[in-house]
Amino acid sequence: MTAKILDGKTIAQQERQRVADAVQERIKKGLRPPGLAVILVGQDPASALYVQNKRNACKEVGLFSQTFDYPADVSEEILLNKIDELNHSAHIDGILVQLPLPAHISSDRVLESIAPHKDVDGFHPYNLGKLAQNQPGLRPCTPRGVMTLLSHTEFPLQGAHVCMIGASRIVGRPMALELLNRDATVTICHVYTKDLPKQVTQADVLIVAAGRPHLIPGDWIKPGAIVIDVGINRLPEGKIVGDVDFEQAKLRASWITPVPGGVGPMTVCSLLSNTLLATKLRTGY
Ligand code: GUN
Repeated sequence: MTAKILDGKTIAQQERQRVADAVQERIKKGLRPPGLAVILVGQDPASALYVQNKRNACKEVGLFSQTFDYPADVSEEILLNKIDELNHSAHIDGILVQLPLPAHISSDRVLESIAPHKDVDGFHPYNLGKLAQNQPGLRPCTPRGVMTLLSHTEFPLQGAHVCMIGASRIVGRPMALELLNRDATVTICHVYTKDLPKQVTQADVLIVAAGRPHLIPGDWIKPGAIVIDVGINRLPEGKIVGDVDFEQAKLRASWITPVPGGVGPMTVCSLLSNTLLATKLRTGY
């Protein structure tokens, strides 16, 4: 068997077009475009690249975006004041603070200071609580993007065994809740999981977000499984790889995401969709 490729680039482009069309509809009706504020602290090159991608994507679909760049030694108070200002801004519908933040700043305090209805990352406890209760709301971008990819496989999630590797707040935990909300049987694995191969070999759907290159060898994959690789790792020679041994895994899987070009583009398009949703939820149109 050779797996079909879950092409995030193409699927994300379709989703972006949907957002772009909705933005044009708003403008035709005389409404303003949805607005996104992105806050970046420090000079981390990966974070700066992600923020640049987000900014470009906003421009492409016609969203209004503002970026606020702060030096790594900015005080928490300055950030909280900016967020307070953005919470009250009429033309900003979504606020995103790029993570990670420097150690002297409390990420919890910063994320909780974002008004829940502008929390387009879905990291505020209010929105995570809504997700845990399977109620509508703003949902974390990467899990939302993975759900869109899974819908393209038309694989029935109800009763399926999903193995989620990684229990981060950004991916693993909200991802497991999304899947539970679709009636899947979800196992969350992490660094203390005792027999990882046993969990992986049972999975109809395997989602890996560990950030460790080639953590999952291809021969652990259950034949016919769907493999979603969230990892983005740069090897010493510069090559970008995921957490799964793609070449071997694709000989066993039914569907597999490439890295790059799988989950990555979906995260950005979920952010655009969330900004549009936040605008509708807040303004009623
Ligand atoms: N850092 C890595 N992934 C993300 C994300 O989805 N949102 C934010 N705000 N920061 C991140």
